[in-house]
Amino acid sequence: MSVVSYDLNKSPIGIFDSGIGGLTVVKAIQAALPFERIVYFGDTARVPYGPKSQVAIRKYAADDTAILMRYQPKMIIVACNTVSALALDVVEKSCGHIPVIGVLKAGASMAVQVTKNQRIGVIGTQATICSNAYACAINELDADIEVISQACPLFVPLAEEGFVNHPATKLVAEHYLADLRKENIDTLVLGCTHYPILRQVIGETVGSGIRIIDSAEAVALKTSELLTESAMLNRSQKASVPHLLVSDLPQKFSNLYQLFMGSEQPDVDLVEV
Ligand code: DGL
Repeated sequence: MSVVSYDLNKSPIGIFDSGIGGLTVVKAIQAALPFERIVYFGDTARVPYGPKSQVAIRKYAADDTAILMRYQPKMIIVACNTVSALALDVVEKSCGHIPVIGVLKAGASMAVQVTKNQRIGVIGTQATICSNAYACAINELDADIEVISQACPLFVPLAEEGFVNHPATKLVAEHYLADLRKENIDTLVLGCTHYPILRQVIGETVGSGIRIIDSAEAVALKTSELLTESAMLNRSQKASVPHLLVSDLPQKFSNLYQLFMGSEQPDVDLVEV
């Protein structure tokens, strides 16, 4: 049994993703738990993960976890659906005793609670959609739900470029979402943490009346429950800025952070993977 020798309450929450996508989770955690310290790693040297093989994604997952473990986190949030779908067990094994929450199950369970007509659309990276992990997680909760999935690989580079309301994003969204629009879904899961950055365009393209599920909000709720139940909430009443780490181009990450988080330009540390 491992003995924890540091103060868990004051320890940070470790969060990682391939790039800026996980910042949607950081934002949701800050809103729900403003006094928690956060250490965030974006693997900007190897983004995107979605078109890569399962072998590569599992290696990245182990590397990303090892980087966060240097900061003695009290828990890890896998703010990446691709890793949650294909390598959650790798993260759990690499971090030993501390709890791990992945975005995928949180998003799936929120969608099941929301749908009225039992028809849920899921969009995600190639790897996430091919793994069928969302359909499995949703049908485990309710076997009668029909899940219609669509990979949208170009959404990740568009988000990484900051093309939030760009005509190119609209064009790509029209292309990817045309078939989904004919499927009479009432709920659409943004099954990639980069996609909430493009939420406005995605929402306009699928049309009003479809409830959009952002797994970041679901994961923040789950995190808050976990820390409360295990008495691990930070008792400090002081909000702190997240410690940001990337594996390449810290300045670009800092610019995008400022754009998406609406904050001052943050310091970003470069780490080797
Ligand atoms: N944002 C990640 C996800 O939720 C990874 C996207 C990628 O790097 O392709 O799947």
